[in-house]
Parts: sequence; C-alpha cells; structure tokens
Amino acid sequence: MAPNGKVVRSPLAGKVRVAAIGYGAFGAFVLNALCGLPEVSLYAVAGRSPDRLKVFAERMGIPRWTTDWQTLVSDPKVDIVCVLTPPHTHAEIAVAAAQNGKHLFLEKPPFTQPAPLCQ
Ligand SMILES: NC(=O)c1ccc[n+]([C@@H]2O[C@H](COP(=O)([O-])OP(=O)(O)OC[C@H]3O[C@@H](n4cnc5c(N)ncnc54)[C@H](OP(=O)(O)O)[C@@H]3O)[C@@H](O)[C@H]2O)c1
Repeated sequence: MAPNGKVVRSPLAGKVRVAAIGYGAFGAFVLNALCGLPEVSLYAVAGRSPDRLKVFAERMGIPRWTTDWQTLVSDPKVDIVCVLTPPHTHAEIAVAAAQNGKHLFLEKPPFTQPAPLCQ
C-alpha cells in the first residue's frame, strides 16, 4: 500500500503466488490475512513436520506443502516468499529467495549476527 493509502497494483499479471516458509503462530496470522485478498494465491507452504504441514495446508486450502523449502524459493511459479520461521533461519531463506529473484516478506532482523546484508 502506498503512503497515501492507495493500493498499488502489482506489475505481475494475474494472481500473485505466495510460498510461505513456516506456518506457526505468526505464519497462520499472516496467511489468514493474505487468503482474503483477491490478488493473492497461497501457492505452497513449507516447514519441518510433514504431519502438521499436511493438516495446515488442507485447512487453509493450500495445494502444495513440502519439508524442503529450497524447492519453493527456486520454483519459477512463486512470486513472493514469506519468511515465517524463527529468526536464526531468516538469513539463509531470505538470501536464497533473493538470489532466485523473489519478492520477500520478512519481519524481524534478517540476520541475528553481523553479516553482509548486500551479498
Ligand atoms: N509470534 C509473533 O507474534 C510474531 C510477530 C512478528 C513476527 N514474528 C516472526 O515470526 C517468526 C515465527 O514466530 P512464530 O511465533 O510463528 O513461531 P512458531 O509458532 O514456532 O512457528 C515457527 C514455524 O517455522 C517452521 N520452521 C522452524 N524452523 C524451520 C526450518 N529450519 N525450516 C522450515 N521451517 C521451519 C515451523 O515448522 P514446524 O512446525 O513444521 O517445525 C513452524 O511452522 C518469529 O521468529 C518472528 O520472526 C512473530
């Protein structure tokens, strides 16, 4: 959203496809907000527990889930990667997503230790 409150249209054609890495308390909050937006498609979700992932994906109507987040950050169908995992995982996921040209949603520090932010 622009500072004047107007919604800025994405230059991407059609729905914006979101891959969520993490689906815990904050992940569920973010994805519940995104799923109400007509321009957004929740494309896939990643985490560590296959059992919990399957339940969450089915509940949210997310068609794909994986325990291998690397496959999502390099998936050409993914437009935006939402990093919704604990802080110590942010850097690796965010850098990989950026290196694959993805848009990023990332709260809290991207790095928990001094690191080259511009690598
Ligand atoms: N909670 C808040 O109020 C809040 C507010 C603002 C921002 N945040 C941000 O959100 C982050 C997560 O908080 P949370 O409360 O949602 O934590 P949480 O409930 O523990 O959820 C963490 C999620 O990350 C997944 N995960 C953890 N390590 C992973 C890894 N190595 N690879 C892939 N997935 C992994 C977990 O999957 P499994 O369950 O399958 O292990 C789980 O879905 C925070 O660290 C912070 O950066 C949180």
